[in-house]
Amino acid sequence: MKLEGRTALVTGGAVRVGSQICLELARRGANVVVNYRSSAGPAAQLVHELGSLGTGALAVQADVSRAADVALLSREARAAFGQVDVLVNNASIYPRTPLNTLTEQEWDDSIAVNLKGPFLCSLEFGRRMADVGAGAIVNVTDWAAYRPYVDYLPYLTAKGGIITMTKAFARELAPKVRVNAIAPGPISPPPDLPAEEIEEARVGTLLGHWGSPEDIAAAVAFLVEGSDFITGAILSVDGGCLIA
Ligand SMILES: NC(=O)c1ccc[n+]([C@@H]2O[C@H](COP(=O)([O-])OP(=O)(O)OC[C@H]3O[C@@H](n4cnc5c(N)ncnc54)[C@H](OP(=O)(O)O)[C@@H]3O)[C@@H](O)[C@H]2O)c1
Repeated sequence: MKLEGRTALVTGGAVRVGSQICLELARRGANVVVNYRSSAGPAAQLVHELGSLGTGALAVQADVSRAADVALLSREARAAFGQVDVLVNNASIYPRTPLNTLTEQEWDDSIAVNLKGPFLCSLEFGRRMADVGAGAIVNVTDWAAYRPYVDYLPYLTAKGGIITMTKAFARELAPKVRVNAIAPGPISPPPDLPAEEIEEARVGTLLGHWGSPEDIAAAVAFLVEGSDFITGAILSVDGGCLIA
């Protein structure tokens, strides 16, 4: 599906990886809806930057783990651009949750944002895409969903669920809507990640370096417009972590 003239929604799109995905999709001619939860300032700034690329852009505040917010996101996106053709389920939380202090609330929070959020958005936008007969959904999982490390059990479990959900939605929404996922390796360290863990992640790749948000943005663009014959696929963009 060519992005030119289409409309894409990127959840958690205001900063970090999400903002690079927004920029790449806009460069390829798509109107972009930037969903954010708390980053109102960066979202407004990004919309300004996207506008200078010549396509439409809109920022919408919504908590993707709440069905009412997702419904509002859908209404605002459709009011601005008509139909959402591309959904990128990028929003996530990544809290360190060591097993000995792990709480039910931490589990619920991770599942809500990292699994239920993509579910609610896929349901809302995917069904509409199927109704109009075209669309693409790109989920974002994590290479470590295949090989979990310690201290992030709820996050990693949710990301494992994304892998199955990607395939399940690919079946549900075929043949007109394609659903794929990207499994990033180390791309952009959270601000509080200790230097030794940053180095450990680098050494854990085959290529010997961290990737970049632009690597993920390029993979999203490929899954949307590189081929119309890919669905239910999980594309590793991990510098070889999984086989290292
Ligand atoms: N960074 C990496 O190295 C890496 C590695 C593997 C996988 N990934 C995956 O790649 C994706 C992007 O990574 P990232 O590091 O850029 O993510 P991130 O900084 O952890 O989070 C991206 C955005 O998600 C938004 N968000 C959180 N809860 C939300 C909610 N309830 N509703 C709406 N938005 C919400 C936040 O928006 P606000 O700022 O507006 O609150 C945040 O800016 C994520 O799915 C992540 O799991 C990243």
